[in-house]
Amino acid sequence: MSRVALVTGGSRGIGAAISIALNKAGYKVAANYAGNDEAAAKFKDETGIAVYKWSVADYEACKEGIAKVEADLGPVDVLVNNAGITRDAMFHRMTPEQWREVIDTNLTGVFNMTHNVWGGMRDRKFGRVVNISSINGQKGQAGQANYSAAKAGDLGITKALAQEGARAGITVNAICPGYIGTDMVMAVPEDVRNKIIAQIPAGRLGEPEEIARCVVFLASDDAGFITGSTISANGGQFFV
Ligand code: CAA
Repeated sequence: MSRVALVTGGSRGIGAAISIALNKAGYKVAANYAGNDEAAAKFKDETGIAVYKWSVADYEACKEGIAKVEADLGPVDVLVNNAGITRDAMFHRMTPEQWREVIDTNLTGVFNMTHNVWGGMRDRKFGRVVNISSINGQKGQAGQANYSAAKAGDLGITKALAQEGARAGITVNAICPGYIGTDMVMAVPEDVRNKIIAQIPAGRLGEPEEIARCVVFLASDDAGFITGSTISANGGQFFV
């Protein structure tokens, strides 16, 4: 029986590459998305992967959405918490709304999703949770107090849940992508982006597939003894 993988923010950017890679690796995949119906419909047409719309920032919506995925595909064995947004601003200009939106999606979203699959994973004595954090959760980034805080929080929940899940056969790991060539990074003003690329020893942006391959490994049986860890995939831009 194929395992079931649920990828949040799974129809665009890094999430789309993760959905596709897991599907190719033999998983039944559900790709969650929050807003872009057009992109999701195109993704579904091109890949045949089922798409489900809800906001990870909404606990009840996560509960209902996961119930629908499980009714359609079966219990979720692999959860990839990838959904994330930016609301970049220097701190002196950041609004409480910009702070809240990013924390609600990028950090509370991980709670909302994981809390709703955790009991099932414990009962079945198997689970894989992969949290997509960020280089900016490790090193901090000017203009991203909200995002850096949320992504650092994702590393904290990863380590706490790794300890709680280990005896129940659940691994919880994080990946910290560096700057990857997605819409999110391309939205950074070109002059700022060029300065960032100049700081990457590899001399280029990463590719979404380079993150997706890390996820496939962490989801596999081969990675069963790896939990609470962080894979940094950033072209040498930052070492922990
Ligand atoms: N460190 C310290 N100060 C900085 C700075 C830095 N890196 N960058 C800018 N500043 C200062 C400027 O010198 C300026 O100071 P003064 O007002 O005293 O002159 C002040 O901050 C304002 O700078 P800007 O004029 O550039 O401000 P802005 O409002 O036009 O833009 C910004 C601010 C939106 C945050 C813009 O700088 C920006 O987009 N930065 C990029 C942030 C970033 O890296 N985002 C990553 C997005 S991709 C992602 O998040 C994916 C992932 O996981 C990696």
